[in-house]
Amino acid sequence: MDKRFYITTAIDYVNGAPHLGHAYEKVVADVLARARRSLGQPVFFLTGLDEHGQKVQQAAQELGQSPQTYCDGLAVQWGEFVRTLGLSHDDFVRTTDERHRKIVATLLDRLHATGHFYKSAYRGFYSVKEETFLTEKDRNPDGTWDPQWGVVQELVEENWYFRLGEHQAWLIDHIEKHPEFVQPAHRRNEVLGFLRSQKLEDLCISRPASRLSWGIPLPFDPGYVTYVWFDALVNYFSIPAALGDPTAVAALGGTAPAGSRLSAWPADIHLIGKDILKFHAVYWPIMLHALGAPLPKTILVHGWWQKDGAKLSKSTGNVVDPLAIIGEWGLDAFRYYVVRELGIGPDGNWTDEGFRVRYNSELANGLGNLLNRAVNMLNKYRAGVVPAADGTLAVEANAATEKTQSCYLANDPQGALIAAWELVNRANLFVEETKPFHLAKDPNQSARLDSVLYNLVECCRILAVLVQPVMPATADKIFAQLKVCGEPSDWRQSIWGGLAPGHQVGAPIPLFPRKDLVPK
Ligand code: ME8
Ligand code: MG
Repeated sequence: MDKRFYITTAIDYVNGAPHLGHAYEKVVADVLARARRSLGQPVFFLTGLDEHGQKVQQAAQELGQSPQTYCDGLAVQWGEFVRTLGLSHDDFVRTTDERHRKIVATLLDRLHATGHFYKSAYRGFYSVKEETFLTEKDRNPDGTWDPQWGVVQELVEENWYFRLGEHQAWLIDHIEKHPEFVQPAHRRNEVLGFLRSQKLEDLCISRPASRLSWGIPLPFDPGYVTYVWFDALVNYFSIPAALGDPTAVAALGGTAPAGSRLSAWPADIHLIGKDILKFHAVYWPIMLHALGAPLPKTILVHGWWQKDGAKLSKSTGNVVDPLAIIGEWGLDAFRYYVVRELGIGPDGNWTDEGFRVRYNSELANGLGNLLNRAVNMLNKYRAGVVPAADGTLAVEANAATEKTQSCYLANDPQGALIAAWELVNRANLFVEETKPFHLAKDPNQSARLDSVLYNLVECCRILAVLVQPVMPATADKIFAQLKVCGEPSDWRQSIWGGLAPGHQVGAPIPLFPRKDLVPK
């Protein structure tokens, strides 16, 4: 059984409304998953929802609902969101799933049995909004708490602690020896800077059930539930374990059931946003190390979107509704824009104008126009029949294909689109250079016209494969118009010369209708 390329997203807080930031992360993960599949790697792609914790309990209480009923209602909406984004995930985790809760309990039992926890009185501060503990270092110089933390509660109670601090030197060493562990490099430096400059405090991993009941009970002390982050991070591991992944099951002290069909752990990529770096690059590897489980290969950290230069915020109305954009412009246009606009690393800024400009220049006038001209001219001048094969643009097409492939493999989907558009632009320029509409008027130029048409249509066919991870429906439409068999989701289709002379293509249908010409 081959180990799958295992990619995860952060699991979203169920009580927040899905927004552009969530959509971006899920689409980027989907693109990387589809690219790997296209390149022949078996993939396991996991996404899902984070449903426990104080915020959820409070929100449910305010509505007079049980937390489970409240979560079940919201999960429907999130399920719809994920479907609308066209994700190709292999599983969807809810932390309220019995399969997840069972594994969390087993993992807690093992860490408890091996002496990683202790009970002690706790006095400290807690941000319910971010579900995180704060220390004196998080206070403003004037003693107040920053509004980002929302209401900060002081807690004085007995709790269970995880001996996080013990593993500090080990973690620094691990990150130093594995440059790929946290990407991009500036995020890795951020983690190393944090680890080298301050002593890691032990982590409080429980809440008294009397105060917070909405969580996974500690199996060894029923008066407590598990701290929501300790529960949420485990999702990456609990789902493979529940599906019988031998490595995950072994780390829990079990043996995989005979005939189990999933081998995924350790994860290859945890894709997350920059605000939850500490949880993923400090807490999570230490939890796994304490358990004796292999660590994920890469924590891939993306930046945050703003709109018109300001923070996305429901209260100020500065929001982008991905579903509305998809409704108006189409799913693939949305996926294209977010991936093309924001590489993995920096922060991004959404503007409606920026979206419109990329749509018109890169999709409608770029890829869309290329396909439309190619198919149109082939129909007009050659009755839709592919002429003799020719390789005038083969070298350039192969170079773009190779570049696109290596960008996908380097977790750089933005770079992949830039590389693919080198071919879009080259082929469009080729039309300007060769002027097939003039060649068509001169019977002596018939062979030349054949060659031009072959190159244009063949570039379109290859481009379908290159863009497929980002725009799967568009890729299918291109293959359908060209009436070629085979799947654009198979990278092997990108080899030059796949279009057979004598093959009959279909009729042209615009991929991306130009929007500025469409009256509202
Ligand atoms: O943090 N731009 O959930 P969450 C880009 N449940 N990405 C953004 C963003 C923005 N403006 N706003 C949020 C949680 N995100 C936890 C995760 S994982 C075991 C538990 C990203 O719903 C954010 O960085 O607050 C995170 O990666 C994801 O959306 C979910 O955020
Ligand atoms: Mg958040």
